[in-house]
Amino acid sequence: TMPIIRTVEEMRNTVARWRTIGGNVAIIPTMGALHKGHLSLVRAALGQAWWVMVTVFVNPKQFNSVEDLAAYPRTEEADAAKLAPLGVDMLYVPGFEEMYPDGFATAVSVGGVSEGLCGTHRPGHFDGVATVATKLFLQTGANIAVFGEKDFQQMHVVRQLVRDLDIPIEIFACPIIREADGLAMSSRNALLSPNERRIAPYLADVLSETAMRLQRCSSSQDLIEAAKHDLLAAGFSRVEYLELRSEEDLAPLDRPDRAARLLAAAWLGKTRLIDNVAVPAS
Ligand code: PAJ
Repeated sequence: TMPIIRTVEEMRNTVARWRTIGGNVAIIPTMGALHKGHLSLVRAALGQAWWVMVTVFVNPKQFNSVEDLAAYPRTEEADAAKLAPLGVDMLYVPGFEEMYPDGFATAVSVGGVSEGLCGTHRPGHFDGVATVATKLFLQTGANIAVFGEKDFQQMHVVRQLVRDLDIPIEIFACPIIREADGLAMSSRNALLSPNERRIAPYLADVLSETAMRLQRCSSSQDLIEAAKHDLLAAGFSRVEYLELRSEEDLAPLDRPDRAARLLAAAWLGKTRLIDNVAVPAS
């Protein structure tokens, strides 16, 4: 059976036992409300490491509003029921006090790849992500951490901090898992009204259509403006950004002259959706 562990000390004791047996330890950091996207990361981890730990912590430091934090779905029992049959070795669910005890005063702030995109529109968000990721890596001593390309910029932020802080962990990235209609799976999709849920898949449609067109164009600007317009016409309330960036380092690109990503964030009512698609070099 899969133990559910709530303290650093107990988690470390268990990992120490694993270490006496040997093999890699993989960690999958999540905020819970698990869906098939999360479970694909778990399966990837099970194929890479002998020991697999899933963490669930709704990290207040990475939220931009108390409403968003309060509305975030919390489904621990259902999460545990999804993980146990896969053969996950531990569900680590630290409490707030365990992660941020009174007097906590440190932040990890990553430059470069944190700037622009979500970094511009969610001030402090990536500091919150970087701080909690660093804590989880150092707490667990895992050798492998699995992240999804759904949060493409986040994956780059985590790679950067691991490199800069010499944390001995390999970051493994997994492709985006989508609903049948193309909508990228997200815990926040549960917050969409039926009408918003009908509109939501347009984000993926517009991105993949634009990605295709970008491969035979001289400049992305007009295509990107048209794509933003299409999203608003489809019923999105606001397009925060829609940008072409280098796959390798997130540098802004005017053309996909190297492997690129088209990334977007858009609002449907009170819900913010993000998505991205690969644009092969052309
Ligand atoms: P959360 O949104 O729960 O996502 C946990 C992991 O699942 C992330 O690596 C994310 O990219 C991945 N993921 C989410 N939806 C996915 C999908 N449709 N396909 C593939 N992977 C998907 O991201 C966070 O939590 C937090 O910021 C965290 C890293 C846990 C730090 O608090």
